[in-house]
Amino acid sequence: MCGIVGYIGPRQATPILVNGLRRLEYRGYDSAGVAVWEGGKSRVVRCQGKLQGLVNKLEAEPAPGMVGIGHTRWATHGRPSDINAHPHKVGGVSVVHNGIIENHVHLRQQLEASGSKFSSETDTEIVAHLVAAELSSAKDLTEAVRRALTKVVGAFAIVVMDDAHPDTLVAAKKASPLVVGLGEGENYVASDVTAILDETKEIIFVEEGDIVTVTRQGVSITDPQGKPVERTPTTIRWTAAQAEKDGYRHYMLKEIHEQPRAVADTLAGRIDLENDNVTLDGIVVDTSNIKRIVMVACGTSYHSSLVGKFLIEDFARIPVEVDLASEYRYRDPVVRDTDLVIAISQSGETADTMGAVQLAKERGAKVLAISNVLESSIPRLSDYAFYTHAGPEIGVASTKAFTTQLVSLTLLAIHLGRQTGTLSPERARLLLAELLALPNKMAELIEHGAQLQVIARRYGNSRGFLFMGRGNQYPIALEGALKLKEISYIHAEGYSAGEMKHGPIALIDEELPCVVLVPQGPLYEKTVSNLTEVRAREGKVIAIASRGDKEIGSVSDEVIMIPNTLPELQPILSVVPLQQLSYYVADHKGTDIDQPRNLAKSVTVE
Ligand code: F6R
Repeated sequence: MCGIVGYIGPRQATPILVNGLRRLEYRGYDSAGVAVWEGGKSRVVRCQGKLQGLVNKLEAEPAPGMVGIGHTRWATHGRPSDINAHPHKVGGVSVVHNGIIENHVHLRQQLEASGSKFSSETDTEIVAHLVAAELSSAKDLTEAVRRALTKVVGAFAIVVMDDAHPDTLVAAKKASPLVVGLGEGENYVASDVTAILDETKEIIFVEEGDIVTVTRQGVSITDPQGKPVERTPTTIRWTAAQAEKDGYRHYMLKEIHEQPRAVADTLAGRIDLENDNVTLDGIVVDTSNIKRIVMVACGTSYHSSLVGKFLIEDFARIPVEVDLASEYRYRDPVVRDTDLVIAISQSGETADTMGAVQLAKERGAKVLAISNVLESSIPRLSDYAFYTHAGPEIGVASTKAFTTQLVSLTLLAIHLGRQTGTLSPERARLLLAELLALPNKMAELIEHGAQLQVIARRYGNSRGFLFMGRGNQYPIALEGALKLKEISYIHAEGYSAGEMKHGPIALIDEELPCVVLVPQGPLYEKTVSNLTEVRAREGKVIAIASRGDKEIGSVSDEVIMIPNTLPELQPILSVVPLQQLSYYVADHKGTDIDQPRNLAKSVTVE
């Protein structure tokens, strides 16, 4: 995930910037850079790879000066490279940016048409061009940034410096974190408190739409219209280790809470409301030659593929098979050149998924990868790559990577359905509107997580759990069971609720909690019948149901209400309480949540 640090004061900026960036290393990044001003102009030093590479470069060619900005980049637009690393400098203007500029294609075309030359593939460079253009007529740097930002759609935290305004840093925030640190005759700006906690504990949390002018003497904040606003500083009492997790006890909990943002980032710039369609970052999958889609993946990504099957078959009416990558690669599968193979891997490095992709390619299929890591091995090996924008996930148990996979698959299915003509513009419009509403619904759902804490304590000492669902909730039952077992070490099984009577119902007694996914949708009644079968055998029922369901309380021991959305999109919401349940059960048991025993984040061996 990208990180920002800025400094203005009487000391050398470079060591402060590098130390701040080092504090942000844990978040994952692929390149780093600084811009430091001295003697009338700033020097930009950037380097792909680890921070140590930048430090080595800075030792060879120092960047002295007492004003500067620094950045660690986690690639989203443009591969990891020296030229795509931040800061981006246009004329005298240097910019660092976290987030995604949604209208970057349009802005870039406009700027290029009026003669601007780009030196990187990033969306960030656009901001530098826009500010540089505004500076010719603006009264100061703050004014130029404000005007430039009126053209930008998206999520951002930016910091700008300009060679002609060396006494000022200007920062702005929209839907991406930004803080200002206050010192004596010196001030700081950063994307995260962690980056500057070694220097100051006096922090202003910048709010939505704020534009911040930082000088040595002080900090002034205005709203997007230029009206001054007051923000009260907070004295931070967290340790640096706590700050790395934004005050959350574990990365997993932090990542659960990051999901609304991650989902919004995955949607950003991809929804084409004018044409009731989706733009897949320039990928156009020609459906005329596709007779079948085969999805290959492992673990949590396999579960998202199972949901993907529902979406693609429903919207595009193309038959879909889903296979575990470790099975597919060794069972001599039938592969045709009319197959599209979709490989899903959040890390992009999973050995079995990579093996499956190699095999599919050797046998003539086209491969589309869905991954969270730009330029990782699986996307590089594939014909097309589509990226989830979840940001790096540190907790081993996948949460935001999973929900953004579901969102990506929905986008892909809409795209395919519009191509085949089986998804009407009206239905697509409805789906797109509901997708855009998901981040807020998800945020509200997560905020009500306290109920899960109580349920976790109540059932957390059980020897086993059963998770049940039907239709597109069945893969979510599998995912809920996987989450629980991997971090709490409690045996859990996910079952199709309709399969219960064929065997697993024998397990049910008063000791076995059954989590039943029963949101409103075409299979609601049938799932309620399965739930009552559990109840009739003394099983304890924890129902995940839609808000407003008045019946479910009378047939369940616990009810967790989730916001309403279209049934096709319900899995993106219904998985959230299961993540929270697993987290709180594991917390109750005191296991190592972020690094559960025997597991690794990226499984690069067979
Ligand atoms: C579980 C989890 C794993 C991964 C699996 C595949 O929470 O994260 O099951 O999903 O190891 O990893 P990727 O998606 O990186 O291919």
